[in-house]
Order: sequence, then C-alpha cells, then structure tokens
Amino acid sequence: MPRGVPDVPRVPDLVGDVAGILISEQQIRERVAELGAQVSTDFEGRELTLMSVLKGSLPFMADLMRAITIPVQIDLMEVSSYGGTATESSGLVRILKDLSSSIDGKHVLIVEDIIDTGLTLNYLIRYLRGKNPRSLHICTLLDKPARRLVDIPIDYLGFTIPDQFVVGYGLDYGELYRNLPFIGVLQPEVYTSA
Ligand code: IMP
Repeated sequence: MPRGVPDVPRVPDLVGDVAGILISEQQIRERVAELGAQVSTDFEGRELTLMSVLKGSLPFMADLMRAITIPVQIDLMEVSSYGGTATESSGLVRILKDLSSSIDGKHVLIVEDIIDTGLTLNYLIRYLRGKNPRSLHICTLLDKPARRLVDIPIDYLGFTIPDQFVVGYGLDYGELYRNLPFIGVLQPEVYTSA
C-alpha cells in the first residue's frame, strides 16, 4: 500500500457519489403519468396483469400502477443475471422468484426498469410466452439501445438514454443507490475504487 493511501474500504455517500442527474424526479413523474394514461386507454375493458421484475423495477412499478386508471392485477418475479460483472449483463438468467399466479389467457404487461443488451428480457419473454398469456407487451422506463444484442419490441418507453451506467429510482450499483429519487450517473471514482 503506497504511503498516504488509507487502507480502508471506500464508504458510499448516497448523494455525494452522484456526478450528475440525467433524469429528474419531475421528469420521471410526468412521463410515468403519461405512460399510465396510455396503458389505461389501450387496455380499457380488458383484464390486465402488470408483471414487474425485482428489484430494479420496484419504484417504477409502484408509480406506474397508481397512474393506471383501469383495474389491474400485479405479479412480481425476481431474476438475477449471473456470470457478468456489476455493470455488465451476461445473458445467463436465474429465476429467484417465479410468478405467484397463472397468466394463462391473461393480458400481461412486463414492467421493466431498463433494457440494456436485452438478454435478460429476451429470456423472460420466452419464459412467459411458455405460460400461454393472451397477450404479452413490454413497458420499460429506460432504453439503452447502444448496447443492444437482441431485438426487443418495446410497446411503452419512458426515456431513451445514452450508453452510460445509471443509478437511482430502483437502479443499483453494487446493490446501492436504488433509493435515489432521480436517475443519475456516479462519479468515476466509485467504479474505479470498487
Ligand atoms: P440487459 O440484460 O443487458 O438488458 O440488462 C438488464 C438488467 O441489467 C437491468 O434490469 C438492470 O438490472 C441491469 N442494468 C443494465 N444497465 C444498467 C444501468 O445502467 N444501471 C443499473 N443497472 C443496469
């Protein structure tokens, strides 16, 4: 260890670690309201299940479902990709929590936080199609098209973002920063000192 470099792990600083805000709380609120209104119109008179993917989609799901004005049911799955790194997906997906109820014959809207390579959602779509839903649509808050490896048909999109790793509003780096109310970018030191 060189002289002057403290031999202690870096302590995360929720707000201090943020280099900049990419999408503000207000922008998120306004866009989620628009998406909720659109979903309500499109699925009027139909039986809709919102299926969200833990953990990153939790705030988006909670806000979106309250912006929807038709009756909906909700279900939650938890998946984790493995074999990758803290900022890179591998495409290998493990189901940690499966659906609680059958989606056979139901209209299902997948509620996702972000589509990056698309590998996670590609796996999930194939898995859910096998459960025989009446229809399967996709709603994602963020889309990072620059890194897409598989084509994903997005039906409802919050924001398209550049090829940057983002945190906040459910999105994490090393399981932290999910509770920031906006979408932000971390200081480079946070990654380099990990
Ligand atoms: P994909 O399989 O590459 O599309 O990655 C999907 C998952 O990777 C998301 O559901 C997130 O959990 C995570 N992810 C991808 N990009 C980011 C990011 O910029 N910030 C935080 N998590 C991300």
